[in-house]
Amino acid sequence: MTDNPHSRTWFRVAVVYFAIAVTLGIVMGGSGDHSLMAVHAHLNLLGWVSMSLFGLIGLAYPAITEGRLARCQFWLYNIGLPAMLIALAAQLKGVPRLDPVLGIGSLVTGIGVALFAWLVITRVATRVRL
Ligand code: HEM
Ligand code: HEM
Repeated sequence: MTDNPHSRTWFRVAVVYFAIAVTLGIVMGGSGDHSLMAVHAHLNLLGWVSMSLFGLIGLAYPAITEGRLARCQFWLYNIGLPAMLIALAAQLKGVPRLDPVLGIGSLVTGIGVALFAWLVITRVATRVRL
């Protein structure tokens, strides 16, 4: 597999989510307070796991990570997800003021996912680099 700079960016962001998620998991386990479990789960799954997959899929099919639409997908996801998770943490800690951000953040993340699906479906046959 050859290099893809866009994949490297996804991997760098993914490991930041991984580190935060596992830190939170350890704090949850240690304190016995699991109230932020949904934040931990989605930091891991939408952050670490999904972003690593975006990067890995981009290594195999670089066309999926290139151009304006791919840039748009990157930013939708990376703005929507932190907004969603910060607002979710606030909600779970009894601060409902950020609920609209939770709704909008989820929606923006979801649009990022839909765009990724579109990029994969339309570009997966374009060029293979293995
Ligand atoms: C040292 C690392 C980790 C620690 C200490 C940890 C700790 C925890 C704790 C304490 C819970 C709450 C369990 C409960 O209340 O039932 C939890 C839930 C969860 N963790 Fe982790 N975790 C770690 C790593 C991971 C990783 C790497 C992933 C995914 C890639 C992950 C995914 C999840 C999920 C999906 C849940 C929710 C499970 C459910 O719905 O019942 N965790 N974790
Ligand atoms: C924008 C995208 C997503 C939204 C808005 C969302 C929303 C939710 C909601 C509302 C719950 C119930 C939480 C609760 O009962 O406290 C949940 C649970 C869960 N979701 Fe997601 N989800 C998303 C993406 C994903 C993805 C991509 C994965 C896996 C790759 C995933 C895995 C899980 C798991 C394992 C649970 C059960 C653990 C928990 O309660 O936190 N979710 N999600």
